[in-house]
Amino acid sequence: MITTCAAALAPRIALASVPFELIAQPVNAQILPAGDPATPMLGFNGSAPGPVLRARQGDTFDIRFLNQIDEGSAVHWHGLRIDNAMDGVPGMTQEVVETGAEFEYSFRAPDAGTFWYHSHNRSWEQVAKGLYGPLIVEELTPPDVDHDLIVMIDDWRITENGALAEGFENRHDQAHQGRLGNFARALVEPNSPVRLGDRVRLRLINVATDRIFPIELEGIDGKIVAFDGMPLPNPQAVSNLILAPAQRADIIADVTSDDQIAFVFPTRDDPYLLGEIPVEGANTTRQPSEIPALPPNEQKQPDLDNAVVLSLTMQGGAMSRPASTQTDIWAFNGQSGLTDTPFHRFERGQTARIRLVNDTRFPHGIHLHGHHFFEVGANNSLGAFRDTAMVNAGDTREIVCVFDNPGKWLLHCHMLGHQAAGMKTWVEVA
Ligand code: C2O
Ligand code: CU
Repeated sequence: MITTCAAALAPRIALASVPFELIAQPVNAQILPAGDPATPMLGFNGSAPGPVLRARQGDTFDIRFLNQIDEGSAVHWHGLRIDNAMDGVPGMTQEVVETGAEFEYSFRAPDAGTFWYHSHNRSWEQVAKGLYGPLIVEELTPPDVDHDLIVMIDDWRITENGALAEGFENRHDQAHQGRLGNFARALVEPNSPVRLGDRVRLRLINVATDRIFPIELEGIDGKIVAFDGMPLPNPQAVSNLILAPAQRADIIADVTSDDQIAFVFPTRDDPYLLGEIPVEGANTTRQPSEIPALPPNEQKQPDLDNAVVLSLTMQGGAMSRPASTQTDIWAFNGQSGLTDTPFHRFERGQTARIRLVNDTRFPHGIHLHGHHFFEVGANNSLGAFRDTAMVNAGDTREIVCVFDNPGKWLLHCHMLGHQAAGMKTWVEVA
């Protein structure tokens, strides 16, 4: 059972000082409704989720990360196509940042869009405890909207006394859908009323460790304008929206309700209200207009004729026979966890066509670091340009990627419980 609460948590802190200090530390967060106990968690700068980091396209984020939790950590800037050394993966792009230590991150934001940051050390536990926040890169010419709102969708497994349930490495969870919460919420930032007739931009981010959220929106009429931070050349209808962990969707829409915008999680029993934005008053001056496409980010044209063709098969989990060579619950191509040699070494600029084959009984959300890739659609058409692709149980989905960012990059399932139990590999771009 999931219950509903009215708390909204995230403060908004603009990136003001240089470098900006981002401090991981224990916090108490009011996840449950006011009146219920606060939940001991981890957060950044005193809150979970952490502060909103915002800059304009082309600007540099200078962030001094200080680790004040009682184990090692590091911060990954999910979806940003940045220098490998800044990617925040302990053991691959940097040393783990020990308790009391710090690390300077500095990277230029090449793409405008909706991104997020999160711990990449023991992420299945640290992200579940709250070590994440939104990272927004504004367009040089932002779209004309009355409100720009971040909507983080999360779930938590909370005990009766308001604490997070232990068992972050529960093998049964890992072999199934991962750690699913018993309480879910859409956290809207900033949470202030909008008016009937306002045009709003909603930046939805699935920050849950493992749960896939189908989402229905009520009280608006508009279009999806971006997935995973990258603009859609043709904005599409807001229907059948499903976000796997780490996936984002930007929506631009007009408010059509005089009561509220509602974020609804359609479940098998009853629709579950994840959150709402109150509507007060009316905008009488805005003229009706089409929802425009966002200005495009840079995309290298893939060289399909000379593409290297690869296949990545997801294996393992409950209710299927493990590959003979796998050593943990999950595997890619018979291999669990990271090996000395990468899944593939690419020449810089090389195009690859990768078949993501899901030979398991569960859906997976496959994330590639440092790059975006095209999802291949019907008739070989190149679809959305994403950093995380959801592949349903038994399905195959092809992606096409131009590997143009040098370095060592993780490729893993973003159901963090699956990642913990072997579903990860890496690629190298030389
Ligand atoms: Cu959102 Cu490997 O990361
Ligand atoms: Cu998975």
